Amino acid sequence: MHRDMRIGSQGRVLKKMRPGNLKCKKKTGQGLVMPMAILYHEEKHIFTLQTTRTTYQMKVDEFGFLLHLYYGGKITGQMDYLLTYQDRGFSGNPFDTGNDRTYSMDVLPQEYPCLGSGDYRSSALVIRNGDGSECCDLRYVGYQIKKGKYGLSGFPAVYADEKEAETLEILMEDPVSKVQVVLLYGVLEGEDVITRSARIINQGEGSVVVEKAASACLDFLGGNYDMISFYGRHAMERNFQRIPIRHGNFVIGSRRGTSSHQYNPAVMIAESGTSEDAGRCYGMVFVYSGNFMAEAEMDQYDHTRVLMGLQSDLFHYPLSGGEELLVPETILGYSGNGFGRLSRMYHKCIREHICRGKYKDQPRPVLINSWEAAYFNLSGETILKLAKDAAGLGMDMVVMDDGWFGKREDDNSGLGDWQVNEKKLGCTLGDLISNVNALGVKFGIWIEPEMISEDSDFYREHGDWVMRIPGRKPVRARNQLVLDFSRQDVREHVFGQICQVLDQGNIEYVKWDMNRSLADIYSLEDVQGKVTYDYVLGVYDFLEKLMQRYPDLLIEGCSGGGGRFDAGMLYYTPQIWCSDNTDAVDRLRIQYGTSFFYPVSAVGSHVSAVPNHQTGRNVSLSARGVTAMAGTFGYELDTGTLTEEEKEEIREQVKKYKKYESLIRTGDYYRLSDPFKDPYASWMFVSMDKRQALLNVVMLEMHGNMTISYVRLRGLEPEASYQDVGTGKCYYGSALMEAGLPMPAQMGEYLAYQIELKII
Ligand code: GLA
Repeated sequence: MHRDMRIGSQGRVLKKMRPGNLKCKKKTGQGLVMPMAILYHEEKHIFTLQTTRTTYQMKVDEFGFLLHLYYGGKITGQMDYLLTYQDRGFSGNPFDTGNDRTYSMDVLPQEYPCLGSGDYRSSALVIRNGDGSECCDLRYVGYQIKKGKYGLSGFPAVYADEKEAETLEILMEDPVSKVQVVLLYGVLEGEDVITRSARIINQGEGSVVVEKAASACLDFLGGNYDMISFYGRHAMERNFQRIPIRHGNFVIGSRRGTSSHQYNPAVMIAESGTSEDAGRCYGMVFVYSGNFMAEAEMDQYDHTRVLMGLQSDLFHYPLSGGEELLVPETILGYSGNGFGRLSRMYHKCIREHICRGKYKDQPRPVLINSWEAAYFNLSGETILKLAKDAAGLGMDMVVMDDGWFGKREDDNSGLGDWQVNEKKLGCTLGDLISNVNALGVKFGIWIEPEMISEDSDFYREHGDWVMRIPGRKPVRARNQLVLDFSRQDVREHVFGQICQVLDQGNIEYVKWDMNRSLADIYSLEDVQGKVTYDYVLGVYDFLEKLMQRYPDLLIEGCSGGGGRFDAGMLYYTPQIWCSDNTDAVDRLRIQYGTSFFYPVSAVGSHVSAVPNHQTGRNVSLSARGVTAMAGTFGYELDTGTLTEEEKEEIREQVKKYKKYESLIRTGDYYRLSDPFKDPYASWMFVSMDKRQALLNVVMLEMHGNMTISYVRLRGLEPEASYQDVGTGKCYYGSALMEAGLPMPAQMGEYLAYQIELKII
C-alpha cells in the first residue's frame, strides 16, 4: 500500500502523493503498448478505471475525501470539472474546510459515504463506536494496484487471471477510531465489468460495531433514472418492475437469510426511456446469497444515489481491535446501448468468471426429475422405471428427488436423517444406482442439508443445533426448522452424513434444496449480530468442501425453486432450479425476468405434465419444450402416463435440444418481446460468429380473426443472407431485424415455433 498521503489532525493533506509504481501504458507480449485498466493521475489525484467501453473515475481531494467523478461510457480526460461548490443551507461543512461554506459532504458525490459525516443521504457504512456514537470520517491513506483480480476469502467472487484483470485497493481511515476501510475495485477490461467490495478493519484498541455495510455506492449527478428490480414470491419469481427514482428512498432487500424469491439481489439503473437496445443503463449484481439491501434515492439537489450491500436489519457486526469484516462483492456494469447489451455482458461474466467446476463449459445432462412424477411416493422401482423411459427417450440422467431418506412420507418429518430408506426403495442405494447406470443413464439425488424436521432422530439427538431464540418457540415453515449453519460442528456432522450417502455409488448430480426462510436468528455458539452473515459463510464453506471432495459432481441449487437464485450460489452450483412453477406460460415470464442478469446455462427448466400442477393450465407439449429449452433442459413428469405420440414428440425434443445445446448454452441471448405486455414471448440465441441463430416464439394470445405478429430479430449480421433451415427461404439480416418475420396464423392456444437461421 502506498501510504502516499498523510492526514493531519485537521484532516488536511500534509504530503503530496508519491507517484507510486504506476505508468499509463503496459507492454504486451508482442511488444505492443496497451493502455492500462487502472490509471492514476498524480497531480489531480484521480483514479481512472478503464474497460473496453466504460470509464469509472474518482478523486482524492485536498481534504482526503474520496469523491466519485464519473461512471459511464468511455471518456478521455479528467472529470473533476463536474464538481460544483455552492453555499447550501442546512448542508454542513467539514470542520477542516474552515469557513468554506460551499464544501459539503451532503452534496458531493462520494465513493463510500458514511453516517455521521455530514452527509444526510443513505450511507454505505454505519459504524457504532465504543462510546456509542455513530460516526465515521473516512479519509484517504493510500492505494495499491495489483495484477489480477482480488479474491474474498470464504466468499464467492468474480475470478480472473492476471491477463484479464487488475485490482485497485484504496485505503481509507477514520483518524479518531482508527477504523480502516480498504475499498476493492476489480477491473475486467475485456468483459466491461468492474467489481467492488470492501474490507472493514478495526485498527483501534476498542471495539466498534458495523451496523451497515454496502459494497458499492453509485452517485449520479443529476439525470432522470429509473430503478429496475425483480420482485416476486414463491413460484412466481423475478417479475420486472421499473419505477422512476424520485425524492425519497426506494429500498428492496431480504431479511430471510437467503437472497429470496421476493427480491433478487440484482438491479438496473436506467435513464428513463432506455429500452432493450437503446439508452444508458447500469447493473449492480450482488454476489451473495443472504440478507441484502439495494437502495435508490434522489436527494434534495436531484442527485441520485444507489447502494448495494448487506441488509442492515438483523446485522450488528462487532469488531474488536484487529478484527475485520469482508463485505461481499457487487458486479457493476454499464451499457450505452440498452438492457440487451447489459444482460449479455452479465451472462458472459457469470458464465466465465463466476461459475466453476467440471460443468462450467460442458453440456449439462438432460435429466428427468422424480418430484412432479411421484412426489414422496417413490420407490426404487419408480426411479428405475423413469430411468428406463429416460433411456428410451434419449435423456441422460434420472434424479431421485425428495422422499428417499429417513422417515419421509410427506414434508412433516425426516429432514436431517440422511440415511437411505432401503425399505422404501426396496434395495440399497448402491444397487439402484448400478441398475440405473446399467441402462446408460446417470444418477442424481436431492438433499436439503440446512434443514431439520422435529420428527427426526437427528432432532431428538441434537435439538440444540437448530436456530431458535432461547425461551421462545421457533417459527415453523413447511413444518421444518433450520440448522445453525454458522456452527462448524453442525456443518461437519451433516457433511459426514451427506458424504456417506454420496459414497454409496456413482452419484453424478446433487440438487441442493433449501425450503424455508430463516427466522429466530440466534446462535448458541456465535456472536449475535453476526449470525445471518456467518450462516451464509457456513453454506459456502459446506458447498466448497463438497466441490473439493467431489470435483466431478454437478450441483444444482434450489430454494423452493428460485428463492436463492443469485450470483453467489452460481459460484458453487452452475445451475439453479429457476422456479417451483413449471407452468410454461408463467415460466416464460419468470425466465424473462431471470434473463436480465443470469445466463441461460444457469436456469434449471423442465417440461412437466398438463394440466400443470401449479396452475391447472394446459399448454401444448411443443410450447412446454420450447420454453424449457431456454435453460438446462429436462423433464419432471410421470413417463408412465405418456402416449406413444407424446413419447415420440419428447424424443424429438431431446434430439433438438442436444443439436442446439452449445448454441443455447454459449450463444448470445436476445430478448425479442416483453411477455408481460406483448401477445407473444420471443427470444433468440445467436452464435458468436453470427452465422447461426435460433429464434424461439410462444404465442400467448389467440382471438377470432387473429392479427399477425411480426417478430423483429436482433443480433444478426445486417448484410448477410440467412436461410430459414426449415423452409429454405432466405432473408437478409437487416430485413429480419428491421421488419421482422410474420408468425403463422394457425389456430390453437400457446403455439410455439423454433426457427433455425443460418448464413449460407
Ligand atoms: C422444493 C423444490 C422442489 C422439490 C421439493 C421437494 O420445493 O423446489 O423442486 O425438490 O422441494 O420437497
